Amino acid sequence: MNLLNILNNKETKKLPIWIMRQAGRYLPEFRKLKKESKGFMNMVYNPKIASNITLQPIKRFGFDAAIIFSDILIIPDALGQKLSYQEGKGPKLEKMSMDEMLKKLSIKKNNKKLKLVYEAIKRTKKKLNKNTNLIGFVGAPLTVSLFMFDNERKKEYIKIIRSYNKNKIKIKKIFNLLEKATAEHAIGQINAGAEIIQIFDTWAGILNNNNLNEYSIKPIIRICNIIKRKKPKIKIIVFPRNVGKNYIKYINKNIDCISVGEDIKLKEIKKIQEKKIIQGNLSPKTLFNGGNKLEKKTKEILRKFSKKPFIFNLSHGIMPGTPIKNVEKLIKIVRNFKNEI
Ligand code: CP3
Repeated sequence: MNLLNILNNKETKKLPIWIMRQAGRYLPEFRKLKKESKGFMNMVYNPKIASNITLQPIKRFGFDAAIIFSDILIIPDALGQKLSYQEGKGPKLEKMSMDEMLKKLSIKKNNKKLKLVYEAIKRTKKKLNKNTNLIGFVGAPLTVSLFMFDNERKKEYIKIIRSYNKNKIKIKKIFNLLEKATAEHAIGQINAGAEIIQIFDTWAGILNNNNLNEYSIKPIIRICNIIKRKKPKIKIIVFPRNVGKNYIKYINKNIDCISVGEDIKLKEIKKIQEKKIIQGNLSPKTLFNGGNKLEKKTKEILRKFSKKPFIFNLSHGIMPGTPIKNVEKLIKIVRNFKNEI
């Protein structure tokens, strides 16, 4: 309950910690299950496997929260843009033009694939003790849409944004559809047992000041408004990666916590923490490298932020190949810290 307590501004015994991509390739038990499951898609769409993977880092490290093993790209898949996974290359969505998307993509009621995620959440919830919170998640429309248009994985995101600005009416329709589907998927996860929703906007940092409002901040707030209208008690964490001095613009009554990267000075984060709960911001590279620097950086973050509501996390997902002993060391430092104050 530490995590949910913090998000509810209640006292906690321990400072909560979980890490993005905590169920992933750095874990030998994940790699083993992946081999046995014949690929990523079979893991995502198999509730038993997805639930087992979700629980792996909880069993090993005792994090304060489990995040359901899934992917942000299942939304376009559910809307009708087929998702596949190429080993070594990552996820790939079927190639579609803007016009084809407008013609072919739609929300299907009682979507079978999304139900598999809800099934995985129900299974996981039964196995978690009440001290460990369950996080559901979605991708923000901007980040999801960039993958929808970048089928070759060229990462020419600025070019894609230019095409959005040239086709405002069409892109608005696509974003509307994504917002609705994303909010519904978040609500589906909440109904299945998720207690917190994290919204990932991994690519928000590529936008300039004008575009940021239109393609990241406003769509995220509209999604939060829909979720909170139906589920007023649910807590929402927003992660607009690499937006630097613009994190502060995400402060909103329907956003409970802002997850910050390492692209912002600690004293700037402190200003945000005056108004909103903060999550972050240890570099995954620092965790990967371990040693004295890991201890120094972790303690610096703890000293700066632990006196106000704060969730310890990384600035982005844990890197494959991160030594298990470094994760153990990190948890030990965080767990022991309260004693030092
Ligand atoms: O955090 C967790 O433990 C929950 C699981 C989770 C996954 N994807 C599983 C996954 C979460 C929260 C995501 C979100 C996600 N997926 C994002 C946003 C967050 C971020 O990290 O930026 C994005 C952009 C995606 C799309 C995606 N999925 C990419 C670009 C890739 C390939 C790159 C990579 O990290 O391998 C994936 C694959 C993926 N999603 C893996 C996992 C564990 C790796 C699968 C494997 O090859 O073993």
